[in-house]
Amino acid sequence: MQESLNFKIHPDGNGDVSPGLTDLAAVAERAIAARRSLLTRECAGADFLGWIDLPVQAEEWVPELLDLSLELVERVDHLIVVGIGGSYLGARAIMEAFSTPGPYGGLIVLDQAGWEPVGPEIHFVGTHLAGHKIEQLLRRLGQRRFAVNVISKSGTTLETALAFRMLRNALEERYGDDANEYIIATTDPENGTLREMAKRRGWRCLPIPPDVGGRFSVLSPVGLLPLATAGLHIQALIEGAQRGRERFINLWSAETGRSAIEQMKENPALHYAALRRYLGEDGKAIEVLASFEPELTCIGDWWVQLFGESEGKDGKGLFPASAAYSGDLHSLGQYMQDGPRHLFETFISIERPTGKTKVPASSGDSDPADAFAGRPFNEINRAAELGTLRAHTNGGVPLLQIELLRLDEICLGELIYFFEAACAISALMLGVNPFDQPGVEAYKSEMRDQLNQG
Ligand code: PA5
Repeated sequence: MQESLNFKIHPDGNGDVSPGLTDLAAVAERAIAARRSLLTRECAGADFLGWIDLPVQAEEWVPELLDLSLELVERVDHLIVVGIGGSYLGARAIMEAFSTPGPYGGLIVLDQAGWEPVGPEIHFVGTHLAGHKIEQLLRRLGQRRFAVNVISKSGTTLETALAFRMLRNALEERYGDDANEYIIATTDPENGTLREMAKRRGWRCLPIPPDVGGRFSVLSPVGLLPLATAGLHIQALIEGAQRGRERFINLWSAETGRSAIEQMKENPALHYAALRRYLGEDGKAIEVLASFEPELTCIGDWWVQLFGESEGKDGKGLFPASAAYSGDLHSLGQYMQDGPRHLFETFISIERPTGKTKVPASSGDSDPADAFAGRPFNEINRAAELGTLRAHTNGGVPLLQIELLRLDEICLGELIYFFEAACAISALMLGVNPFDQPGVEAYKSEMRDQLNQG
């Protein structure tokens, strides 16, 4: 069977490391040790390793999530998801990969014919403090039926609480006490303000396992309910993540006589983690995650949060930046080709892209499209990708490549797990706890001071 995800290295492309990268074996040894400490639960942040088995645990939730999503499909035209950071970015990233903009500013998944939405329009709110945007959305929705899925592990996040209050008020104005039937709270199974409110008001609740941190939670009800309601195939997503987990968990043991490098190459997440650490120690400060597929742009946003919040501690960590090519080649291209050589790139590519559109025949005008009439856009896009890959590596940018077989839920499920596992290994190799975010408190406390002065 062909793998859904492959990991490659350039410029040599044959799976060996770039010239100049010496002593990779020592880095591979450290990556192997970091992986072992995750699986034996002896690493920093060992209370937050629930993500490792989440693809297996997720199967338990599927029947309830599918029932609830079917009920929502029947009852409402819009699902408003309220949450920030890890409580929305994963769901949004996967939604963006398979959806199209809806008529009310949200996202819809269309049927195979590409005409009718298969579920309600999904809106993500609570991602900023601009209250007028929520007012605008409510005005736009008018009397259309909507439900709210409020997602917060802590239950104390201000952006989420403020947006939720506005939406709850709107539901209560419309339905009175029945408003409670249109609210689903996804939160800690036992503790927290949101859990307390939900108990008091009788809202339906879905759990975020206590040992799963926000940015590692997309395969829990945090991501699965909105995705199932939109009409996506969550079982396939879970199956893909299970494949990722299998590949992460299996490794030749040293007793088989395999070298550290061979062991590393067998395990894509470990391989990626080791190489990004190696490049970091070789003087690279920035990793740019880029794709030529517009469907994957938002995966870049999720990845930025995953790696940024997990690694950026104690003065350490690669700066994670994301780019959407070929558009961003017209802004970042110059810097990538010719700027300081303190960065490397990671491409996410699709081996078998879906689109079949061809360039229409010429209308008689002579323009740059003429030469390509009749050729598939995919072919042109692939040429742009390969051309960029060669140009950037020739320009001295080491390039890693994650190749997905196709754009479907299985491949994205595996990609999600691949990144989570690689992120945990990378952060542990840096000597930081991958699963906390103490630095985020600093701005919150300064903001509280500002508000108290006012
Ligand atoms: O990754 C994280 O833990 C954070 O990004 C959180 O998800 C984010 O701050 C939202 O927190 P909460 O779910 O508690 O509202």
